[in-house]
Amino acid sequence: MTVAARMNDLGTESAFEVLAKARALEARGKEIIHLEIGEPDFETPRHIVEAGMQAISDGFTHYGPTAGLPELREAIARNSREVRGVDTDPANVVVTPGAKPIMFYVLLALAEPGVEVIYPNPGFPIYESMIKFAGATPVPMQLLEDKGYHPDLDALPGLITDKTRLIIINSPENPCGSALTKQELETIASVVKQHPGLYVMADEIYKDILYTGEHYSISSIPGMQERTIILDGFSKSYAMTGWRLGYGIMPEDIVPNVTRLAVNNISCPATFTQIAGIAALDGPQDAVQAMAAEFAGRRRLITDGLRSIPGIRCPEPEGAFYAFPNISETGLTSRQFEDRVMQEAGVALLSGSGFGEFGEGYVRISYANSRETIQKALDRLDTFVRGLV
Ligand SMILES: Cc1ncc(COP(=O)(O)O)c(C=O)c1O
Repeated sequence: MTVAARMNDLGTESAFEVLAKARALEARGKEIIHLEIGEPDFETPRHIVEAGMQAISDGFTHYGPTAGLPELREAIARNSREVRGVDTDPANVVVTPGAKPIMFYVLLALAEPGVEVIYPNPGFPIYESMIKFAGATPVPMQLLEDKGYHPDLDALPGLITDKTRLIIINSPENPCGSALTKQELETIASVVKQHPGLYVMADEIYKDILYTGEHYSISSIPGMQERTIILDGFSKSYAMTGWRLGYGIMPEDIVPNVTRLAVNNISCPATFTQIAGIAALDGPQDAVQAMAAEFAGRRRLITDGLRSIPGIRCPEPEGAFYAFPNISETGLTSRQFEDRVMQEAGVALLSGSGFGEFGEGYVRISYANSRETIQKALDRLDTFVRGLV
């Protein structure tokens, strides 16, 4: 079969591949600890589940508007005004099945051959994949271990050319767990404002899992709302990964383009999940806070545990639920570490190289798992690494 040449440019998300490999080993009787996939291990809060079930009974089982139900777009705009302090109109909101389609549509709408897109590296692999798929040139903005996985923003102006159309930022960040400070966001905004026609896609999907301070959105900086596409959703904040519900908040001239891509692709997001989404945003938020508090405890456990293993360095994550230790002193490449630790120690984690060229020498460990399981994984990692020498 001859497939279209553009398929050569499409990357993947290794988490799903490693999960499949781990499942295959499990089917052969091996016990694996899953620290590869990035999803909260909590159940969706009960009042959200009930709203979703009620919505099915109430007949929310048909097509809806492509950009989402007006009531949900309204709730998202209201919520965004509260958490970001930005005066958001529901007309600027597009709802999608998960937030990933926003990434897909925004890049298809803005990127093309001859255009450059700056993105964090190590970073969520779909950014680079989609930039290339759209025919544009990916320009990595390196996150540096010795800066706690923050970028060197003095270098940002040097990455921008007259071809740059978009800068992607992700805070808190997957896979590094770093979170951009208010001052860093202001620096990025001041650089962006010097370049008319340059947009920012701010991936804020982990905004509710932040260990110090309050979430601060680049869109709240004067002059930035009209330059920013916010990507957010329900997967991580409300443990709703399987519901597939996310959204983008974007300038009005981007909305019809993203909506047209959506009608060509999905027609509309599922209607009953959207009713559940309204319950999530408008209902009690204590489950969100409880999850974040539990992640904070696990962060301590994993960071201290990793740091006690010889040859492993690990900056403290500032948000999300990922640790990104440097394993280069073990003498293994990231991919060898991923493979061998699964085969020999029964721990599934992800090679840092799956997150871009600057991820080599690192691995990503998701600590969205019970403390008991995390401790067991740490013990296995310790034995594995000590056995290498
Ligand atoms: C950085 C980042 N952005 C976006 C997403 C997309 O999440 P979803 O499509 O489940 O809303 C993920 C999921 O892992 C992520 O890590």
